[in-house]
Amino acid sequence: MIFVTGGAGFIGSNFILQWIEKEKSSVLTLDKLTYAGNLNNLANLELNSRHTFVKGDIQDRHLVSELLKKHTPTAIVHFAAETHVDRSIYNPEQFVKANVNGTCVLLDETLKYWKQLPSAEQESFRFLYVSTDEVFGSLSSNARPSIEGDPYAPNSPYAASKASADHIVRAFHHTYKFPTLTTYASNNFGPYQFPEKLIPLVIVNALQGQPLPLYGDGLQIRNWLHVEEHCQALRLVLSKGVPGECYNIGGQHEVTNKEIVTLICDILDGLRSDSQYLPHRSLIKHIKDRPGHDRRYALDSTKIAKKLGWHSSSDLKAKLYQTVVWYLENLRWVENVVSGDYRQWMNAHYSEKETV
Ligand code: NAD
Ligand code: TYD
Repeated sequence: MIFVTGGAGFIGSNFILQWIEKEKSSVLTLDKLTYAGNLNNLANLELNSRHTFVKGDIQDRHLVSELLKKHTPTAIVHFAAETHVDRSIYNPEQFVKANVNGTCVLLDETLKYWKQLPSAEQESFRFLYVSTDEVFGSLSSNARPSIEGDPYAPNSPYAASKASADHIVRAFHHTYKFPTLTTYASNNFGPYQFPEKLIPLVIVNALQGQPLPLYGDGLQIRNWLHVEEHCQALRLVLSKGVPGECYNIGGQHEVTNKEIVTLICDILDGLRSDSQYLPHRSLIKHIKDRPGHDRRYALDSTKIAKKLGWHSSSDLKAKLYQTVVWYLENLRWVENVVSGDYRQWMNAHYSEKETV
């Protein structure tokens, strides 16, 4: 059995669904079910005996310890985190608690569990920490993409909390020889992403004829990666990665926010040719920029390609098309997540941002 934290969120749920389909072992999921966690993401596994769900906080030392003793996992895949940069700007402490303290408690309890395993099981045990390209900070337009080992320069409270946790993970490997793996992924997109993040937010707003908010000039660059490819890479790192090592998992495309939003609009124009909001790109609205907004992220994924044979898809448009279709076919899922809490966030965050 593997132990997955944050499995009711976007990437965690995609990972678990893929794991159950492709692998043989079972999954134990621990998730606090914050506003971003949604059990509907795992609804297909409700009757599956290979999946066990526990609602709880990774900061709950007693719970983590009991779960480890009871389920005796062979690996931990740690996704649980507060993840939205904009929210981290309003409430950095919440991010430090969940992402730094939470990771430290999880590591600490797992280390105790690991130490009492028979040596063969210690040898094969892995703790995989899912980190982000944002720890490397913003790149200038002519800088080479980030490689593993580049200096950290996190700019947002979110990125700083992830970077802090990375250092603790690294220290556990260095100090205790605890078998950690760290991955840095670029911006993900795909099914089950909460519509506060750019791509699902634009799809959901466009369907309702709401403004499509682009921060500042919209020329910031992200390195988009489809979530299923990310999950494939994580499974590879878990089975073949070398303890103590870090692996970049990046998309092949560097695209400006304006380009990605326009692409989504064009896809929607084709799929919803009877919409009253055509052309959807007329809904784009430039609004006040995010404070400290990172201009460009880019990852060099040569290491994982050479060492583990992983490559991401070169067809961003096709993956984006699939994603838009998924949202159109899952409007009930969208209605369920777009709760009172979501509306409150949208009103509070976007109403104060005047058009620029
Ligand atoms: P998400 O916000 O969709 O999901 C996070 C999940 O963690 C939710 O289900 C939430 O309920 C749970 N959670 C939060 N705090 C918790 C706690 N204290 N205890 C237990 N569960 C808790 O996030 P995501 O986009 O799926 O990201 C998953 C991981 O991948 C995060 O660690 C994130 O930093 C990392 N990551 C994300 C991206 C991306 O583009 N989304 C890119 C690189 C890395
Ligand atoms: P986001 O999905 O929040 O991911 P991250 O900040 O972790 O990269 O945002 C992706 C990009 O889109 C980022 O440059 C910020 C920008 N963005 C907007 O322009 N408007 C929005 O309403 C949101 C949510 C993001």
